[in-house]
Amino acid sequence: MPALPTAAARTLQMLRHARLEVPRVLRFMESESEWAHQVLALAGLFAWGRVRSPENLAEAFAHLGFKRFHQLISVAAVAPILREPVQGYGLAQGELWDHSLAVAIATREILLEKGLRPCLEAFTAACLHDVGKVVLGSALESEPEPAEDISFEEAELGAAGMDHSEAGALLLEHWRMPPWLVMAVRSHHAPLGCSFLIPDLIHLADAICLSVGVGGGRDGFRHRICPTVAERWNVSRGSLERIASRTVDTFEEVKRSMIDGERR
Ligand SMILES: [Fe+2]
Ligand SMILES: [Fe+2]
Repeated sequence: MPALPTAAARTLQMLRHARLEVPRVLRFMESESEWAHQVLALAGLFAWGRVRSPENLAEAFAHLGFKRFHQLISVAAVAPILREPVQGYGLAQGELWDHSLAVAIATREILLEKGLRPCLEAFTAACLHDVGKVVLGSALESEPEPAEDISFEEAELGAAGMDHSEAGALLLEHWRMPPWLVMAVRSHHAPLGCSFLIPDLIHLADAICLSVGVGGGRDGFRHRICPTVAERWNVSRGSLERIASRTVDTFEEVKRSMIDGERR
């Protein structure tokens, strides 16, 4: 099981504490300048409708409130792990993180296309949806290409005894992430077994991102799309094309602003 960076793990632990003292948490984070910088670089993404990123952590907390700030910290904590190359899936440095970000953006674009409000929980879960690949990567490294008639999840099951959704859920449980996040990640390739809409949305967003080639890797076109999900969301070909094109545009814009933020 990969470990979270120390400062990130400590922040999450402080946020879980029954007697939460926000100023203390923020002071601790500010004392870990690299960690504070990583959080601020992502903060603008979690503050919908906000053109610029917050200047400092206190401003980020004041603007986001506890729940959204906690989600920002959860994603920022795992982001360095998602940026690493994942050998068994043929994902180079940064590709899994790019895919995760693009799927998160696509969940927002699907909701907007349907006239619904963006859902930050879906965005957060989408940022972490494929984290299980980090765990299964080494088990799949020596595996030959799976036969044409089996899905990649079945190949993962054969090689590692579980698929990457389950591995991701176990990893998030190990890091003591909230149960709704664990459930969303666990169900993102089998959304019908779950009454919760977030896995559904991630499933569709994932298919859209893979269709435009963001972060496909070795398994990119080997996951089966659930027809019931496509039917349930009733998105026309025209809608899908608009969602895909806006996802790519927003993804590029986000990447540019994150690079600028990291340089600051
Ligand atoms: Fe996945
Ligand atoms: Fe994915």
